[in-house]
Amino acid sequence: MSKIITIHSFRRGVGKTSLISNLAVLLALQGRRVALTDRDLQSPSIHLFFNLSDGEDAHALNDYLWNKCDILSTVQDVTPQIAENPTGKLFVIPASNNLADIMQITDTPPNIDRYVGGLEKLGKELSLDMILVDASAGLNEDTLQAIAVSNVVVLVLHPDQQDFQGTAVAVDTIRKLQVPVIHLVLNDIPDNLNEEDLHVQLEKTYQCGRGIILDHTEELMTLASAQPFVLSYPEHPLTARIKELAEQL
Ligand SMILES: Nc1ncnc2c1ncn2[C@@H]1O[C@H](COP(=O)(O)OP(=O)(O)O)[C@@H](O)[C@H]1O
Ligand SMILES: [Mg+2]
Repeated sequence: MSKIITIHSFRRGVGKTSLISNLAVLLALQGRRVALTDRDLQSPSIHLFFNLSDGEDAHALNDYLWNKCDILSTVQDVTPQIAENPTGKLFVIPASNNLADIMQITDTPPNIDRYVGGLEKLGKELSLDMILVDASAGLNEDTLQAIAVSNVVVLVLHPDQQDFQGTAVAVDTIRKLQVPVIHLVLNDIPDNLNEEDLHVQLEKTYQCGRGIILDHTEELMTLASAQPFVLSYPEHPLTARIKELAEQL
């Protein structure tokens, strides 16, 4: 079975989608066979990083979850976008940005068995090493179910009291769900904070190791989710930090 790595955060807008897209690219460039799944059905956005539009024949994860198609027909191979002939592969399973599809989540939450069945089929048919999942923020039941079937959770937070407190609740919950590994990522750090102090604070507060710290990076903001940062800035210190995390996965 391929490893399921889910990215989550207590609050929205902390950099989950940017980070998971970049991790997926780096892992595929390192030779892994990777699927990147947009499970944030309420704020779908992975399609933007890979320029995928809602075509007539294109299916989204929503179509699979609500029994309209097979999981394999939602898969888009974006490997040619990341390198000419990489040894790895990157497949994207986008979510729909159609209003009716987004509204449907509130009426009929997705079925967890169908979701897990889809991931298993993807893993087997595409011979995947890992499935990266962009989950929605907050601790609603749907997200908790997606987290519970993960082997690893990457938890992203901002240096903000609201995040520090909310993340404590999230770590506690994820531990209760018996997810074996949690990685913490403190993102969007301003220059004036001391990194070593932050590592110590993370370790002491959550007991999930020292965590990864990512600086506030204007170049990333300027890209405005139009493409993965690590492809545009392969030599940037932020890319090196994201690689450190990729190596731990
Ligand atoms: N380290 C960073 N430095 C500067 N801007 C960032 C950083 N990480 C994320 N962003 C920006 O923050 C915004 C939210 O990021 P996004 O990945 O969409 O968050 P989420 O998926 O958690 O809602 C985006 O505009 C993104 O470009
Ligand atoms: Mg997002």
